[in-house]
Parts: sequence; structure tokens; C-alpha cells
Amino acid sequence: MKLLTPVTLGKLKLRNRVIMAPMTRNRADAAGVVGDITVRYYAERATAGLILTEATTISADAKGYPMTPGIWTTAQVEAWRRVTSAVHTAGGTIVMQLWHTGRVGHSAVREGRLPVAPSAVAIQGQQHFTPTGLQDYEVPRPLTTEEVRATVDDFELGAKNAKLAGFDGVELHGAFGYLPHQFLVDSANQRTDAYGGSIENRARFVLEVMDRLVGVWGEGRVGIRLSPTLAYNTMIDSDPLATFSYLIGKLSDLPLAYLHLMRATPDATRFPHWPQDAIATFGALFRGNLIVNGGYDRASAEAAVASGVAQAVSFGAPFIANPDLVQRLATDAPLAQADRNTFYGGGERGYIDYPALVAPDTAVAKGYWLVLASVSNPAQFGAYTAVAGPVLASYGGRVLARGDVGEVVEGALQGRPYFVEFPSYAAARACFDSAAYQDAIALRAAAAKFSIVVVEGMAAAGSMGGRG
Ligand SMILES: Cc1cc2nc3c(=O)[nH]c(=O)nc-3n(C[C@H](O)[C@H](O)[C@H](O)COP(=O)(O)O)c2cc1C
Repeated sequence: MKLLTPVTLGKLKLRNRVIMAPMTRNRADAAGVVGDITVRYYAERATAGLILTEATTISADAKGYPMTPGIWTTAQVEAWRRVTSAVHTAGGTIVMQLWHTGRVGHSAVREGRLPVAPSAVAIQGQQHFTPTGLQDYEVPRPLTTEEVRATVDDFELGAKNAKLAGFDGVELHGAFGYLPHQFLVDSANQRTDAYGGSIENRARFVLEVMDRLVGVWGEGRVGIRLSPTLAYNTMIDSDPLATFSYLIGKLSDLPLAYLHLMRATPDATRFPHWPQDAIATFGALFRGNLIVNGGYDRASAEAAVASGVAQAVSFGAPFIANPDLVQRLATDAPLAQADRNTFYGGGERGYIDYPALVAPDTAVAKGYWLVLASVSNPAQFGAYTAVAGPVLASYGGRVLARGDVGEVVEGALQGRPYFVEFPSYAAARACFDSAAYQDAIALRAAAAKFSIVVVEGMAAAGSMGGRG
């Protein structure tokens, strides 16, 4: 599958095209600091080609929801450093999504302060999640021009802190009706200064922020998320085609890693003049890499990358219940369904207790299976073979090749892969789950780093030319 092949987005070298979409889980503490369970949550999903973190606030004023993490205090930066280090140790890549909620907040979660926004226009017909239950939206306090500039500075600080915390890049949350989006659409932005009015003026805030992020991170490490045709949070632009065409044209001139585009089908009866296919309309306007999102499954994601419409696909809810989503997609295994009751807030339950598949679905266990062991230090291959070899052999495993052949195998892990052929999926799985093999890995763990994935192999023993 092309979905499982490596791809490079700017400077981000990804081992596959399956991206973990940003997901707010409200598991930080009251000071916006993430804890041990968050380290584990992300590390367990590190086989994704790229992890996009949950939206992370860039300042105290950016906050709109309880228990969401931040990236403006030293304690927050230190805590995120533990996450990035765990993800990197597991061979993953991780980008932080930077967030300012703007008017999508409530004074109940902002120490009594009203939410801020481009203009004093409230969200209609929705309520906001607060510790005291759902509440109507308040009319936000409009930012002064000086405060708008200070908010651009806050984003720059967030970008610098994300770098200190060891991330591989940053993504601006420009979607779903949060502050950057509020500046873009004319239903929310009624300013008369340089940040409102014409399309050029409404796009100014986002473009200034993106300039700063690129200033901090340089080429190929900054992305942006947009949802041009999502009316959620009262994002009702009179002409999304004109607004977002202008913006995406300007973004194309920046050396970005990617544009992360949400597909949403607008209500055609309410918005007959809106583009109905956001990916076809807006994706085509971006001269760069595209990550698409929104209800993709194995087949539609593969179709999106195989057709060249997108370079990668992000998955949200499927990553909540399937920490091993990449492996499940590789083996066409069934996906577990996430429990919506534990999406937002709480502890370990519904967060780090979704198991990876242990038993194979025998219906898909066909042909031969290869096991790739990615060894961070190739000098350790000999030691690995000496210790693990007898265990592999006892399960019928046969070493085919090692070293650089990874380049020709689609979906190979990073590092230099090690290929072992087993008579069946069950044999491969049983071998890796065995205490003997785990002990063998543990023996070498101090000197080398292993990450294991079981994939469908070629029918012909010794053939290394890829897989279907
Ligand atoms: C629990 C939950 C939290 C989310 N939080 C964020 C967020 O912080 N930032 C963001 O850009 N999108 C957020 N989203 C949207 C997802 O990134 C994604 O767009 C959405 O789930 C659709 O993709 P899917 O169909 O693969 O789940 C969230 C979605 C869920 C389910």
C-alpha cells in the first residue's frame, strides 16, 4: 500500500503516510502541564508516520477549555520534552499544534476573563464545555490592534518553546473556528483596522503568524491546518472560495512542510455557493504537500495517496482506540471503536488502556510474514543476531537479509531493518510475544534500540521487492 510507504514533507522524513490527527484529550493538569499518561499515550502511537499533538495553548489568554496543555511556561516545556523524547526513542516524529481559542472559550475556564476575538460577535446556536456544564457563549472582548500584534508574538514564543521541548516542527491550528480562523471569515471579523475588512486584511493575522513560525523553525518544519468549508463555531464566510484561495496562494509562497486540509461537506441547502469538495477545490491550490483529514478509512486513505491527491492522510478517532493503527492498516485487521465518553477529560481509562492487537485475525493471516526489526545502531546487528537468532529459529523464523534492503521495501521502519521470514503470522506474533524474545531484546536494549512491526510478506521466500 502506498499509504505505508515513507514520505518526506519538507524536512520531516516520515516512515509512512498515516498521520495521527491532533486531538484534545483534556488530560493535562490545571497548570497546563502534561503528565506520565500523556508520555505513554503518544509513545504508544509512535508508529504513525507523524504525530500531531493535541492543540496546545500559546498563552494563558489563549485558553478556552479546562485541562488543556500549554507551551508558555517552563514546567509545560519540560513536560513536553518527556513526550518528544519518548516518541523519538520509539522512532517516531512529532509536531506540536499551536492553539489560540479566541472566542471559543468561556469566562468560567478563564479565571473570570471574557474570551477575546477579532470582534465582539458571539458564537450562535452552540454551547461551551465548562467545569460547571454546558454554557451559552458570551460576547467576546475585541482585541486592540496592539493586542493582535502581541498575540502574534505569543505564537512566536510558542514556536520557540516547542523547539526547546524537542519537537520536530509546529502546526498552526487555523481550523475549526479558533482565533486564526476567526480573523479569516467575515462573519466573525468585523474589524476596521489593518486586520479586518478586505480579504488581504483578514488574512494578515494568519500570514504574520506563519511568517514568525517559519522564522523560528526555518524551511520545511511548519504546517498549517485549515477547514475552509466547516461552518462549526459559526464560521460563515460570505465567499470561502475567494478568502481561502487568496490565503492558500500566499501560503504556497512560504517554505512550509505541508497544508493539513479538512474535508467537510457543507450543508448545500444553507450554503449553496460554497465549494462542496474542499479537498478538490482548495487542495489543488496549494503548491506543496497536502495532508487530508476527515472520516478516512483504509480504502479511501489509500485512494487519496495512490491518486496523488494527497501525500498523507491524518486519522483522528481511529488513533484513540487503536494505538497500533498503522499495523492494523498494514494487515487489514479490524479497528476497535473509541468510547466517546472518555474523549475529553479523565485519566487512564479511554486513554492508555486500548490494547494493541495481540492475536492475529486468522482471516488475514495468509502467505508468508516478515518481521522488521529496526535497529538504531547498525553495529548492533551482529549482537542482535547472536542473542535473538536462536529464539527466532525456534519459531521457524529464517533471516533473509539485513541492512540497506530497507530502502527497497515499502513501509520499512526507520533505521536499518532486519528481515525475518516466518511460516505464518501467528508464528511471528508468538515469537515476538514470547518471554524468550523479549528477554533477548532487553539484553541488547542498553546498546541498541528496537522497534518491531509484523507485516505481510512476499509469497516467495527471499524476495524483497515490496508488498501489496
Ligand atoms: C477527541 C477529539 C479531539 C480533537 N481535538 C482536536 C484538536 O485539538 N485540534 C484539531 O485540529 N482537531 C481536533 N480534532 C479533530 C481531529 O483532528 C479530526 O479532524 C477529526 O477527528 C476527523 O478525523 P477522523 O474522521 O479521522 O476522526 C479532535 C477530534 C476528536 C475526536
